[in-house]
Amino acid sequence: MRQALLLLLLPQLLLQLQLLKAEETPQGHLEEFGKQGPNLGIDQVDGFIPPQEFINEYVRKNKPLLFKGAAKLSPAFNKWTDEYLSSMVPPRPAGDIFIEHSKKENRSQGYNFVHFKKFLEIYNTSNIYMVSDVPEYLLSDLLLPFPLQCRLFIRGGLDTHVVWFSSGGTSSVIHHDAYENINCLYRGRKKLVFLNTTKYPEQAEKIIDREEGSFSSVDVDKVDVTKRPEFSGLEFHIAEMETGDCLYIPLFWIHQVRSFENNLAVNIWWPPRTEYKLGECMPQYSTKLNFNRVYFKTIENNIRGDVDNIRLVLKAILPKDDRTEASLMKILSGGNEALVANPEFASAVSSIFKALDLNMDGELSDEELGRKLTRKDFRPIYKAVAAYNIIVYRMHETAGNGPEADRLPKLFRTSNSDESVFAPHRTWTQPEPPGPEEEEDEMPTDDWQPPQAEPEKSKDEL
Ligand SMILES: *[C@@H]1O[C@H](CO)[C@@H](O)[C@H](O)[C@H]1NC(C)=O
Ligand SMILES: *[C@@H]1O[C@H](CO)[C@@H](O)[C@H](O)[C@H]1NC(C)=O
Ligand SMILES: *[C@@H]1O[C@H](CO)[C@@H](O)[C@H](O)[C@H]1NC(C)=O
Repeated sequence: MRQALLLLLLPQLLLQLQLLKAEETPQGHLEEFGKQGPNLGIDQVDGFIPPQEFINEYVRKNKPLLFKGAAKLSPAFNKWTDEYLSSMVPPRPAGDIFIEHSKKENRSQGYNFVHFKKFLEIYNTSNIYMVSDVPEYLLSDLLLPFPLQCRLFIRGGLDTHVVWFSSGGTSSVIHHDAYENINCLYRGRKKLVFLNTTKYPEQAEKIIDREEGSFSSVDVDKVDVTKRPEFSGLEFHIAEMETGDCLYIPLFWIHQVRSFENNLAVNIWWPPRTEYKLGECMPQYSTKLNFNRVYFKTIENNIRGDVDNIRLVLKAILPKDDRTEASLMKILSGGNEALVANPEFASAVSSIFKALDLNMDGELSDEELGRKLTRKDFRPIYKAVAAYNIIVYRMHETAGNGPEADRLPKLFRTSNSDESVFAPHRTWTQPEPPGPEEEEDEMPTDDWQPPQAEPEKSKDEL
């Protein structure tokens, strides 16, 4: 009798157990980030919209936006094959880029440098991920997105640009940025899972548990909702980017990014502002405004910092009473006669000297080695040093680790080069670069103007 009752009740019991279990297992438990709730989607438009509309309707309202096909307007969209990219890369160390070694982002891991040519040879069959400024020699292939074609952005309102390049399958941590962001996709697909941070102030604070970097320690492939209940009851906004799309990622929106297939994107970050001066924007999308014509503040400041550092080093090692080209040659060659007689080396040293000798009086004054330089002045120094570094690097490659290598000059250290190859030059101690200059007038003094809209063709031309 008892057994019979038990048998009778068993299905009922099992059902109840199951129900209990279903209650205990929250939606998306141990699944990837974004599966824990419904997708509300995001707005999308065809191509770009004008700056006024973008700033007023999206930036000021803190609202993401997908620009379908907008990246197809940049020359990079058709030009950037692996062969083309490889053909553009200068020798080491100038052609080096930053890479990460894991496709799944891990912020405790560092980054490395590799020659971009080498990257292109191996990235399809490895886990390396290029996360690096757009190299100088590719800047003119990228058009400034129409929504950013305003005087303010062109002349210092933008901060930096980054290339994200891999054979696909990357995933970022869940994070937010203190920057506004437009990301354009030139190859492959991307999926961005967004959380509207202002909608979930309490959950957001718990999700972003790594304050120092504004990211989450949660495993993005397996969100443990029982341990992290802040991930339940959320509504997401998911953006599916296809090749040629651009995406506006609003300030502070929590997001997580995955890439699929051979994948190449370039993004621009800019700091938030309250005033956008929308009267000074291009009326139509100008195809003349490529990245080369835009002053990206952080990138320029890094270059300026490198140049200031190089000048400090030279000031320290050149005898104060003899700062002539001959003296620079003597110091840089370390008295190595073969080097002095090498025309390529001699000409590289001469170029550095000429770029530094602003008043062209044949001597480097305290002023020339110390004062704050304009963009027009520090750019040529940077270029001359990069050319010098290439020559010296090649000499080291040829010399290998032999005794001859000790007699070769060392490279000038720049922020875009591998630290390990930049042993201090002879007895230099590398001084700290001067602190960041943060005045608002930190603008190019060159007389840059946004190009005018295409002039209308006159009747004669037609
Ligand atoms: C990230 O890298 C660190 C240091 O290499 C390692 O200890 C840690 O386990 C890694 N974390 C993940 C989630 O892979
Ligand atoms: C890498 O793979 C992509 C397609 O997935 C291909 O177009 C490209 O040519 C490959 N690059 C190299 C250097 O093999
Ligand atoms: C984000 O959340 C805030 C607060 O709930 C809301 O006012 C705003 O409309 C939301 N934004 C979007 C794009 O849904």
